[in-house]
Amino acid sequence: DWTMGAYREEMIQKIREQVGDKQVICGLSGGVDSSVTAILLHEAIGDQLTCVFVDHGLLRLNEAEQVVQMFRENYNLKLIHADESDLFLGELEGVSDPETKRKTIGKLFIDVFQKYASEIKDAEFLAQGTLYPDVIESVSFSGGPSVTIKSHHNVGGLPEKMGLKLVEPLRELFKDEVRALGHELGLPASFIGRHPFPGPGLAIRCPGEITRDKLEILRKADAVYIDQIRKHGLYDDIWQAFAAILPMRTVGVMGDGRTYDYALALRAVTSVDGMTADYYPFTHDFLGETSTRIINEVKGVNRVFYDCTSKPPGTIELE
Ligand code: XMP
Repeated sequence: DWTMGAYREEMIQKIREQVGDKQVICGLSGGVDSSVTAILLHEAIGDQLTCVFVDHGLLRLNEAEQVVQMFRENYNLKLIHADESDLFLGELEGVSDPETKRKTIGKLFIDVFQKYASEIKDAEFLAQGTLYPDVIESVSFSGGPSVTIKSHHNVGGLPEKMGLKLVEPLRELFKDEVRALGHELGLPASFIGRHPFPGPGLAIRCPGEITRDKLEILRKADAVYIDQIRKHGLYDDIWQAFAAILPMRTVGVMGDGRTYDYALALRAVTSVDGMTADYYPFTHDFLGETSTRIINEVKGVNRVFYDCTSKPPGTIELE
């Protein structure tokens, strides 16, 4: 694409002028915005960039490995995989209030990022994937009881706290332009087209207390559900889809025994911007087949519900 090719060159020049020979830190979340930011910076300043990927233990099946592998192998950039899942899951033990979960995760995220960032010698800049809509409108993205959009990936307040200056190469772009730029920079289409994933991750898809057992069940079930959606060619028609694990067990039968296992909720919505959403009208065949697969393939689940609530009155996430 000619326009994006020219924009890419222009951005690279601007980054070089702004940064000079100083060191830059970039928080990588695995999302499109931070990924495109990191790759642009890497093209502009190479080894002067260090990326920090904070793994809070609330990511999907194999997600951390996939992100880290893609960036190390395809882009060869300096990347710290900060596996802090024990810290996050430890602090979240016994926490069931949605707002307390978000605050706990947000605060730890900043602490952890600051710890890793302070180990990078002579860092003077922090790179962020701020988009134009974030610039003109710093209101909450979410209708529900949630923190401001991406606030914990944008490590709010951290630049001032650490005396870092901001590099925000995507400040003039809308989301579809960032995707086009990602394509121009060689990001795989499957990566660019991924559904949004919230900063607090699986924490807000596990209403009530978060336990490692529940997270493991949730990861496996979500992977089966997304596999079903892809197999039926529905992924790109859906704005966001995921499984959530409900804070209840129900009785079932399996062979000649009774089971007493978790119930799952499946969610899928269409939306333009996440502000409003309609539940996705899967066929009964699809729902039946998916339910059977999940119960057969994921130990610990014996019942599956489909969430047919739109937004409003529901939110997209369960918390
Ligand atoms: P809700 O559940 O409020 O979500 O309808 C709207 C969109 O925002 C995402 N979301 C978040 N993203 N931090 C994020 O980075 C959050 O705390 C958060 N809460 C919700 C959600 O996945 C959906 O795309």
